[in-house]
Amino acid sequence: MNHPRKKLIAGNWKLNGSLAANDALVRALLAGMGQPTCDVAVCVPSPYLAQLQSLVQGGALLLGAQDVSQHLSGAYTGEVSADMLRELGVRYAIVGHSERRQYHGETDAVVSNKAQRALAAGITPIVCVGETLAERDAGETEHVVKRQLAAVIHTNGHCISEIVVAYEPVWAIGTGKTASPEQAQQVHALLRAQLRAASPQAERIAILYGGSMNAGNAAALLAQPDIDGGLIGGASLKAADFLSIIAAAA
Ligand code: 13P
Repeated sequence: MNHPRKKLIAGNWKLNGSLAANDALVRALLAGMGQPTCDVAVCVPSPYLAQLQSLVQGGALLLGAQDVSQHLSGAYTGEVSADMLRELGVRYAIVGHSERRQYHGETDAVVSNKAQRALAAGITPIVCVGETLAERDAGETEHVVKRQLAAVIHTNGHCISEIVVAYEPVWAIGTGKTASPEQAQQVHALLRAQLRAASPQAERIAILYGGSMNAGNAAALLAQPDIDGGLIGGASLKAADFLSIIAAAA
């Protein structure tokens, strides 16, 4: 099939890393991946962005952040702005990860504003949507993911074609329980239809799958027509595993 979208494999390191561990991991990735045909990014904790910026210089690994402030500047202790990220060479920022929604009370409105700030700074937001197990069991998956994406579409208008979407069922994150390729494709197709209705350029928008993606299940997930890559937590911390997933996307 002729695909209009380049695949994107993005690692989300979450709250992991150290100067020494990052150095070893990134060197192993750069040595192992050569010139991949897909885009590859790592979303690292903010204090390590400068380290990563110099490590990945000139290489095929792109830099991402795990969050971005919804504010431009000012009295917001602890926040990191989109312009600051941009200065450090950041290309992607995850927004609305379920862990931020759950532990930091991020609402659909906050997530939408964060996406807007990222876009304004020239950073691609990776907008996460996904249902909890209770919501899936109650038959609310479609309603939940569409509500989460609708907020971002509403706030960002025609810029929506510049985002990346990540479908991350909350019950699959860090649990070893992956959505089956069919289950994931079903939700990705819903999201694609919603994007099509919002933008004539919807075919360009990558929709990633996230949630216990690993070296063993990546190929089957990535073979689905609307799965354009992965957002990978645990398996992105081991070079061999992350390299296998990159190879599966190539
Ligand atoms: P795991 O791959 O560890 O399940 O995490 C997925 C995730 O939350 C990526 O953002």
